Amino acid sequence: MALLEVKHLEVEFRTNFGKVHAVKDFTFNVAEGDTLGVVGESGSGKSIASLAIIDLLPNNATSHAQRLNFQQANLLALHRSRFARLRGAEIAMIFQNPMSSLDPCFTVNYQLLETLRVHQPQASRAAYRAKAIELLQQVGIPAAEKRLRSYPHELSGGMAQRVMIAIALACQPKLLIADEPTTALDVTISKQILDLLAELQQKKAMSMMLITHDLNVVFERCNTVIVVYAGETVESGTTREVLLKPRHPYTQALLAALPAVEITPRGTELSTIKGNVPSVYENLSGCAFHPRCQYATELCRRQAPQYDLTQERLVRCHYPLT
Ligand SMILES: Nc1ncnc2c1ncn2[C@@H]1O[C@H](COP(=O)(O)OP(=O)(O)O)[C@@H](O)[C@H]1O
Ligand SMILES: [Mg+2]
Repeated sequence: MALLEVKHLEVEFRTNFGKVHAVKDFTFNVAEGDTLGVVGESGSGKSIASLAIIDLLPNNATSHAQRLNFQQANLLALHRSRFARLRGAEIAMIFQNPMSSLDPCFTVNYQLLETLRVHQPQASRAAYRAKAIELLQQVGIPAAEKRLRSYPHELSGGMAQRVMIAIALACQPKLLIADEPTTALDVTISKQILDLLAELQQKKAMSMMLITHDLNVVFERCNTVIVVYAGETVESGTTREVLLKPRHPYTQALLAALPAVEITPRGTELSTIKGNVPSVYENLSGCAFHPRCQYATELCRRQAPQYDLTQERLVRCHYPLT
């Protein structure tokens, strides 16, 4: 059953330079127990789409969707105050840079308590404290009791991300949105954090949306994936289908640019994708990927391809690869 259903999600910013259509059409589902990978180059709208889902967009943004359902409840129809309760309690998010997401002025204890208090307003001081210690222990923070008194600057990047995960877990969310949770961390720490997330996910029967630009991470950790380009879902399906048999030329190009041996068939030449993601200020006709696509035809330049929503596997391309 779909835990989260997102259909034709759009986000627009009003800026001094006019309107910016940052997210044009994100469409995907997260089923219960799924780890959905969300991949795409920087600037493709991954973070903004996530913020739209949890209703944390900046003030100059507006969002629309044909459907935004969480556990079959329509998030679009929820009143703001109810949404605030849902956020954090049912859907939690962790961000790329743990240091800037933690408030530098407050201790770990304070920041954990703040979340616990919002969602369990009745508990006693001692109960909050015990819960805070338990949460830090769960995310593998040694000497948890002592760590409660730390300020963010006293933590390493890896420890700060563990604290963020503890805060996210404080209310036992059903869905965790992890937005490039390890991009700011070095390789060994990054693996530890991804292992921790996988372990917690198992234990807590939590679904996860893992935003990353690393296809290896998707391959190792996600059972389903969406590939996004210039604000649009261009392909989705199970990880195996999409990464082993890509049908969108962009997915194919991403895979071809990958230096890793695990996915790239032996003997494949490494390549990088020529060109850049179109600027959000550009008004490109046709398929957003056509300027970089080796297969583009006149039709691709003229007409934007749509996908067939009746299919499990979405491909937004006039000429899907076979
Ligand atoms: N506050 C903002 N005002 C105007 N445009 C924005 C704002 N925040 C993000 N954008 C635009 O939205 C697009 C998508 O950004 P983002 O979701 O952060 O990309 P990603 O997470 O995929 O790297 C970017 O091209 C960016 O220029
Ligand atoms: Mg981002």
